[in-house]
Amino acid sequence: MPPPPQLPVIVALYALAAAAPGTPAWADERASEATPLFQVVGDGISQPLAGARGDAERGRALLVERAAANCLLCHAVSDPSMRVAGNVAPALDGVGRRLSAAQLRLRIADIQRVSPGTAMPSYYRVDSLDRVAAEYRGKPILDARQVEDIVAYLASLK
Ligand code: HEC
Repeated sequence: MPPPPQLPVIVALYALAAAAPGTPAWADERASEATPLFQVVGDGISQPLAGARGDAERGRALLVERAAANCLLCHAVSDPSMRVAGNVAPALDGVGRRLSAAQLRLRIADIQRVSPGTAMPSYYRVDSLDRVAAEYRGKPILDARQVEDIVAYLASLK
């Protein structure tokens, strides 16, 4: 019997992972070389993305600036610098009590895995997205350090 057609792809991915010692294991079979890699364990991503170290103050500044981290479009936070905010999503107050850093990291990087079809963008993924603005095509909305900064900030919201 011929092998299933997806087998060569899986073998190639194993080869890729084996050829890059020290990098985190690849995400899944949708991954390509252009895809930022992370490994989902259970309900979270336990390893910091690209080994970046998050800083809560920088993360807060990213939310205040809005720009690419447009979280306040949908989420409220009780912070005098974040008075104007949307309410289509749960407020982020106390989110660091409800969710671990690993859970926060997965929700920022790729919430579509947790809530398929949700309005929230996957901020650290470049594959299988539709409706991607031209400026973001082929690169994640936030880079690894920005995601880690926001993880650190949300983790501090106890
Ligand atoms: C377009 C609207 C939108 C934007 C922008 C958005 N989110 Fe969300 N977010 C949501 C929705 C809706 C949910 C609820 C997900 C669901 O359907 O379960 C959510 C869920 C979450 C959760 C899980 C909350 C919980 O209590 O389980 C976190 C954490 C989160 N968002 C963080 C962020 C961060 C950080 C940003 C910015 C980098 C952001 N979101 C941007 C809409 C948005």
